[in-house]
Amino acid sequence: MQSLTVKTQPIEGQKPGTSGLRKKTRTFMEPHYLENFVQAIWNGIGGAEGKTFVVGGDGRYFNDRAVQVILRMAAASGAAKVIVGQDGILSTPAASHLIRKRETDGGIILSASHNPGGPDEDFGIKFNGPNGGPGSEDLMNRIFDATTSLASYAIVESQDIDISTPGTTTLGGMEVEVVDPVADYAALMESLFDFAAIRDLFASGFTMCFDAMHAVTGPYAVEILERRLGAPKGTVVNGTPMPDFGGGHPDPNPIWAKPLVDLVMGPDAPDFAAASDGDGDRNMILGRGLYVTPSDSLAVLAANAHLAPGYAGGLKGVARSMPTSGAVDRVAEALGLDCYETPTGWKFFGNLLDAGKVTLCGEESAGTGSDHVREKDGLWAVLLWLNILAETGQGVGDLMRAHWQRFGRNYYTRHDYEAVENARANALMDDLRARLPGLAGQTFPAGTVSAADEFAYDDPVDGSHSEGQGIRILFDNGSRIVYRLSGTGTVGATLRVYLEAVESDPSKLERPAAEALTQVVETADQIAGIERHTGRTAPDVTT
Ligand code: G6P
Ligand code: ZN
Repeated sequence: MQSLTVKTQPIEGQKPGTSGLRKKTRTFMEPHYLENFVQAIWNGIGGAEGKTFVVGGDGRYFNDRAVQVILRMAAASGAAKVIVGQDGILSTPAASHLIRKRETDGGIILSASHNPGGPDEDFGIKFNGPNGGPGSEDLMNRIFDATTSLASYAIVESQDIDISTPGTTTLGGMEVEVVDPVADYAALMESLFDFAAIRDLFASGFTMCFDAMHAVTGPYAVEILERRLGAPKGTVVNGTPMPDFGGGHPDPNPIWAKPLVDLVMGPDAPDFAAASDGDGDRNMILGRGLYVTPSDSLAVLAANAHLAPGYAGGLKGVARSMPTSGAVDRVAEALGLDCYETPTGWKFFGNLLDAGKVTLCGEESAGTGSDHVREKDGLWAVLLWLNILAETGQGVGDLMRAHWQRFGRNYYTRHDYEAVENARANALMDDLRARLPGLAGQTFPAGTVSAADEFAYDDPVDGSHSEGQGIRILFDNGSRIVYRLSGTGTVGATLRVYLEAVESDPSKLERPAAEALTQVVETADQIAGIERHTGRTAPDVTT
C-alpha cells in the first residue's frame, strides 16, 4: 500500500468555533479542505503515530466520504488503530463513550450537530480528547495554528474500506475495527437507569412520542425505547437517519420540531414527548400541553436525579453555561450543592467533570448531560426523565408545577436574529460594551440595573482564562438580559438575546412565558438598539 505525501497550502478560515470546524458541505468538498484540517489535527495533537482513535458521525451527506479519507490519513500517519461505527455512524455521546471505554487517544466526530445537512447545507468535524470531551481551547488553537502553516499531508492510496459490517480489518499497518454504534451505548444507559421501572411504566399504558428527526438517534431510540423498554412500535417517529435529515433542520426546539409540539398541544397528546438533534446530543422535553425549557429541565433533573440508580448517591455539584437560566442555581442552593457558571460550549464542563466537581450540567441550547460521558446526551436526558416519571408516578405537568412551587420559577426565553451582517452585529455588541460602565443604577421597564459586564471565566481546575463570553445585564429583581453572538452559525452573525425573569409568588407561577417577559424583552431592545442596529423588528427564532 502506497503512502502519498500530497503538497498543499494553508486554507484560510479553518478556525474551529464553539464546536469544531463547521462550514458549508461544499466547502468541505473542495480539494484538500478536509485533508488539510485532518492533517492539522494530527499535527496539533503531536502526531497520530501509534495512536488509537474513534471515528464516526451523524450520517449527514459527505459523512461516508469523510470517514474514508480519515481512515486513509490515519493509516498514512502511522495510527495503530481506528474504531469506526458501522457505516460510519456514531452519535456524539456514543462516540464520547467509546473514546472513554476503549481508552483511546481521542476521536473524530463528523457532524454539524443541529444544522441541516446535504450538498448545499452544513458539514462539520470535531476532535475529542482521550477524556471523550471536546478538545480544549488550547488544543483547538494548536490545530488552528497548524492549518496556517501546512505544506503537505499524508494519505494512503486504497480502495474504500468496507465498514458495512462489524469486524476487524487492516489498512496498511493500521487496524480498523468496525463496531455496532448502538450496543455499548445502550449497555451504558442500562447501567444508569432503572429499566425495569421504565418498562413497567410503558406496560401500564404510559404513552410517549420520540422524534428522531431523521437523524442519528433513530437506531438508538428504537433499540432502547421500543426493544429494551417495551414502548409500543411507532413510539419513535422519523427514526430512519437520512443524509439530508428529510430536508429539515434536525434541531429539537419548538420551531424545527413543530409537528411534535403541535402533537402535545393537541387532543391526541401522549403523556411524554421528546426529540433529539442531528448528532444525538441535544434534547427537547415535552409533556401534555407543555414545553419544558432546557433550563427548567436541567433544574428538574438536578432536583430528582437521585431517583435513578446511577445517581442514587446524590450529585457532587452542578454546572450551567452563563446564558442558561438560574433555575438550577435555586435547586443547588436548596440542596446545598456547588453550582458553577461556565461560558457557552460543552468543552468548559469537561474539566469540572474530570475533577469530580460536578455530576450534572446543562445549557439553554437544549443540552443536558452528566459525568457518564463528556458530551451532552439527548437520549440520556430522555431516559433520566422517564426514570423520574416512573419513580414519582407524576406526569410532566404535575412535576413542573410542584418544582416551581418548591423552588420558584425562572421565566425564560431566547430570541435569535439570524444571518445578520457581521459588521452590524459587531457594531451592536461594540456599542453595548461601551455603554456597560454607565448602566448600573439606571431604571428600565425590566427593573433597575444592578450590574452589567462582559462575562469572563477562570477555569477553577486548570486556571485558564476565557474572555468575551457574552454581555450580561442584571437587574435588582433578579431579571437578566444576556447578549451573545453565536459561535456555531455558518452565514453572517447570529445575535442571541437571552431573557429571564424570576418569580417566587406562588400565585404567579403559571403564566405564559412571553407574557411574564414582556418588560424584559422591551428593555433588551431599549438597551441594545436591536432594531436600530439590525433592521429587524422581530427575532427569526424564539425558543
Ligand atoms: C453547540 C455546543 C454547545 C453550545 C451550542 C450553542 O451545540 O456543543 O455547547 O451551547 O453549540 O452555541 P452558539 O454559539 O450557537 O450559541
Ligand atoms: Zn448536536
